[in-house]
Amino acid sequence: MSSSTSSLWTPAASARTASALAGNDTCDVCVIGAGIAGLTTAYLLGREGKRVLVLDAKPEFAAGETEYTTAHLAWYLDDHFSHLVAVRGDAIAKTAASTHRNAIALIGDIVKREQIDCDYHAVSGHLFAAANGTDLLHEEAETLTRLELPFERTKLAFPNEKEVECLRFPDHARFHPIRYVLGLVAAVRQQGGVIYTDTVVEKVRGGRPCEVRTTKEHTVTAGAVVIATNNPFEGGTVLHTKVSAHLTYALAANVPSGSFADGLFWDTAAPYHYVRLQPGGPASDVDTLIVGGEDHKTGQAQDQATRWDRLTAWTRERFPNLGPVRHRWSGQVFETPDGLGLIGLAPWNGPNVFVITGDSGMGLTHGTLGAQLVTDLVANRVNESAAAYSPSRLMPGALLTRLGENLNMAAQYVDWVTGGDVKNPDHIPPGQGAVIRSGLTKLAVYKDDRGAVTKMSAVCPHMGAIVHWNAAESTWDCPCHGSRFSATGTCLHGPSVGDLKNVD
Ligand SMILES: Cc1cc2nc3c(=O)[nH]c(=O)nc-3n(C[C@H](O)[C@H](O)[C@H](O)COP(=O)(O)OP(=O)(O)OC[C@H]3O[C@@H](n4cnc5c(N)ncnc54)[C@H](O)[C@@H]3O)c2cc1C
Ligand code: FES
Repeated sequence: MSSSTSSLWTPAASARTASALAGNDTCDVCVIGAGIAGLTTAYLLGREGKRVLVLDAKPEFAAGETEYTTAHLAWYLDDHFSHLVAVRGDAIAKTAASTHRNAIALIGDIVKREQIDCDYHAVSGHLFAAANGTDLLHEEAETLTRLELPFERTKLAFPNEKEVECLRFPDHARFHPIRYVLGLVAAVRQQGGVIYTDTVVEKVRGGRPCEVRTTKEHTVTAGAVVIATNNPFEGGTVLHTKVSAHLTYALAANVPSGSFADGLFWDTAAPYHYVRLQPGGPASDVDTLIVGGEDHKTGQAQDQATRWDRLTAWTRERFPNLGPVRHRWSGQVFETPDGLGLIGLAPWNGPNVFVITGDSGMGLTHGTLGAQLVTDLVANRVNESAAAYSPSRLMPGALLTRLGENLNMAAQYVDWVTGGDVKNPDHIPPGQGAVIRSGLTKLAVYKDDRGAVTKMSAVCPHMGAIVHWNAAESTWDCPCHGSRFSATGTCLHGPSVGDLKNVD
C-alpha cells in the first residue's frame, strides 16, 4: 500500500492498465470494481452472452485488496461454524460450507477452461490450537460432525517440533491471485467485455434501465449494475450497521524447501494467525512462507509498525529456520456479525442493482460465490443460497455484537472535540503525518522526507469522521467505515469517492 511495504503478488512490470471511460456508454451489465469479485462476475456474465463494462477507480485493475490477499481458498469459515450455527442455525451453516466449496471448485474449473497459469493447487486446510484454544477446537469438531462436514482430528508439527492439536479439512486450495485475475481479464476481453480504469463511480441509480454516474460526469446506462468495490461507496446506515473495517498484516519469507507441509493453517487465537506455503522462492532450495494476523479495527491502533515485528516473532518461534522477511504488507477486511458476505440486491440502490461485500476475511471465495449468485439473480434464476447472503437479512442472534460495533463507530466522532496529535507542524518528523487542531476543525498534516508540508482537512469526505495517521503504511485511515487516503490525501479505498481536501 505504501512505498515501504509491498505485496508478494505485485507484478514487477505492470500488465494491468486500461484506458479511462471517456464518454457516456451503454451495456447489458455494468460491473463496478475490478478485483476478484467484479472480474469473476464480468467473466460469468460474459459467458452467458451479456455485454459487460467493468469500471475501476484505480489506474490499474486488480490493485485493490485482491493484490494484498494471502490467497487461501477455504471453505472452513474463519469465524467458525459454531458461531454461525449459534446466530443463523444449521441450515445456513451447511449452505455456507457448500457455497464456499463450490467457489473453490469453480476457480479450479475456470483455471482449467481458460488455461490460466496461476499455480492453482488443491491442499488441505488446518485449524490448530493456540494456547487455551483446545475448547474451541472441540466445539468445532462437535458442530462439524453434526453438520456432516468432512474433517479429521490430527496433530500438527511445526519445524520447532512442538506438536499441537489440529482439525484437518479436505478440498481447500491455493493460487497466485494476480495471475488468476489477469487470466480472468484476458477471458473477459475475449468475450467482448470492456474494462476501464481511472474511472471513479460516485452514484448508482437503480431502475429499468439503471444509471451509473462517474466523478467525471460520464454516465453508463445498463440493464443491471453490480457493485463489487469491496466496500460500497453508497449504502449509508443500512450497510454500515452490518460491516466493520479491520486492518490485517502479512509477511512473506523463505524457509528451506520441503521443511513444512503445503497447506493452509489457521490458529484458534483472536485475532487469529494464518499461514500457508507457496512452494518455490527466489532460489531452488527455498519455499515461501506467508503468514498473516495482528488484525485491528481500521484507524483504531497506534502501533501499526510493531504489528509486523510481533508477527515475525510469532513465526520465528515456530519456524526457527525462517529467512529474512522479503515482503510485508497490510490491507483491509470487512467483517459482518455472522461472518457471511452481503451479496444480492443492494437494498439502498433500487431495482436491478446488486452488491458483493462483507468479505469477512474470506473475500476470494466470497467474491467468487458472490459472482455466481449475482449472475443467477441478473438472469432471474433461482439460487438457493440467496437468503443466506441477502444484504437485507436480519441477524437477531448477532444484534449484541452489532450494537457494540455501532457504539464503537459513534465513539469515533468524539475526535471532533479532542485535541490534535501535536500542536504544530514543527513537531512532525520528516516522512510522518499528524492531526492538528485548527479552531473548530482538524487538519491532517503530512511532512515529506525533505520537510515540505501538505495540509489537508482531517475530515473524511465520506461521513465526516476524523482520519488517523497510519505510520506503518503512511496513509490516513478513517476509523468509522474504512476509507483510506495516501499521505497527500488521494483516496485509496472507499467508501469515500473523494480525496482529503487540501487547505493550503
Ligand atoms: C492481508 C490480507 C489477507 C487476506 N487473505 C485472504 C485469504 O487468504 N483468503 C481469502 O479468501 N481472502 C483473503 N483476504 C480478503 C480478500 O483478499 C479480499 O476480500 C478480496 O480480494 C476482495 O476482492 P474484491 O474484488 O471484493 O475487492 P478488491 O480487490 O478490493 O476490488 C475492488 C475494486 O473496486 C475498485 N473501486 C472501489 N471504489 C470504487 C469506485 N467508487 N468506483 C470504481 N471502482 C472502485 C477498487 O479500485 C478495486 O480495484 C485477505 C485480505 C488481506 C488484506
Ligand atoms: S469512511 Fe465513513 S466517515 Fe470516513
